[in-house]
Amino acid sequence: MDQNELKRAAARAAIEFIETGTIVGVGSGSTVNFFIDELGAIRGRIAGAVSSSERSSDRLRANGIEVLELNTVLATGRAIPVYVDGADEINRQLQMIKGGGGALTREKIVAAACSRFVCIVDRSKVVDALGSYPLPVEVVPMARELVASRLRALGGRPEQRAGFVTDNGNLILDVAGLPMPDPAALEAEINQWPGVVTVGLFARDAADLALVASPGGVQRLDPVAVAA
Ligand code: A5P
Repeated sequence: MDQNELKRAAARAAIEFIETGTIVGVGSGSTVNFFIDELGAIRGRIAGAVSSSERSSDRLRANGIEVLELNTVLATGRAIPVYVDGADEINRQLQMIKGGGGALTREKIVAAACSRFVCIVDRSKVVDALGSYPLPVEVVPMARELVASRLRALGGRPEQRAGFVTDNGNLILDVAGLPMPDPAALEAEINQWPGVVTVGLFARDAADLALVASPGGVQRLDPVAVAA
């Protein structure tokens, strides 16, 4: 099985978590693209989707799925039971690095609005410790050097993602080499710097379950508790 077949298998497995008549929270990326196509096959059974990127919105519409505004959904008291998204890395506590596609801010917003985060990945994304994948940080353009210098002080090597502007009009710093002994603490620290819009660590709010595809099948991972 090649990696795309594994991504498709994980995406297909997520469909069983979608309840009839509900609104679905939809992430971004190549694995989610397979999920959106699977969702298209059951579009008559769902009440629409809330999307985390312009690319996912376009693909949802192309699959005949109505894209709803998050503010409208929440203002009218409707729930979003499940959010489905991929990850660039995921550990056994189901903490993740995300943002390889640059959609991290809207992903974090939509994930926070949904009751349950179902992460779909192929097995190459599962790691013992987060940090091999460069950490994406969305930054307001005028704060680039301020944030980059602070990331360097933490031991990271930030590089601006070339030719890339987020859906929110900001830039991405991809940070290699950042030590992550405590991902939740690092997320909290970077999050509160002036000019940081979103850090691509999803550690304080980890996934609720992961569907991990390997050639032997799709395995469900529940979060492993960390000893205090
Ligand atoms: C998008 O910004 C990301 O957070 C994606 O969810 C993540 O990069 C996984 O993408 P792939 O499914 O393409 O690997």
